[in-house]
Amino acid sequence: MKLFIDTANVDHIREIASWGVLSGVTTNPSLVAREGRDFMAVLREILAIVDGPISAEVVSTQADDMVTEARQYYELSHNIVIKLPATAEGLKACSRLTGQGVKTNLTLIFNPNQALLCARAGATFVSPFVGRLDDISTDGIQLVRDIAEIFTYHGITTEIIAASIRTPGQVVAAAKAGAHIATLPPAVFHQMLKHPLTDAGIERFLKDWESVRKQG
Ligand code: G3P
Repeated sequence: MKLFIDTANVDHIREIASWGVLSGVTTNPSLVAREGRDFMAVLREILAIVDGPISAEVVSTQADDMVTEARQYYELSHNIVIKLPATAEGLKACSRLTGQGVKTNLTLIFNPNQALLCARAGATFVSPFVGRLDDISTDGIQLVRDIAEIFTYHGITTEIIAASIRTPGQVVAAAKAGAHIATLPPAVFHQMLKHPLTDAGIERFLKDWESVRKQG
């Protein structure tokens, strides 16, 4: 399973990219609003850091407007993936953009039928929202598992991005459920790496090494 970062914060993207673990970036209007910066400028900076798919979400609700908005982002770089909502207008925009060779990420997916429709409209990626389903006492990982089973069974090449991930446990579960990608908030990358025995081990090695140095 590949790892994307789910943020519009350039400093966080730069830090995690420097670990060498990042395959792409996803953003959404809420994440962009949080930064309070011009989105085009932010996208240019992200493009200079990460060589991989970078999702930019449209805010139009009608297919024609979505396509116009998408073209502005796509002209910046062909690494830009257009994030569209899983609605009838989103499907129309998806099939048109797919016909023009533009990659798409169909978002706000909460059931397997939405994912199937998006795949059939030509989506490059679908984004089931794990955390938001868990928030309402529904099994978000089961949705990823169901979509993965359907796509595998029918040879569908659309990739599944496990989105709305909030915990390291959800990352492991998404990987085991067949997600191709998980997109994670910066904090989850740090939580995945942290282990008290790793910290204690380093401390002990350094202490022992220091005593050898003193003896010698
Ligand atoms: O970018 C889509 C998704 O990852 C949003 O997550 O935490 O707002 O449900 P969240």
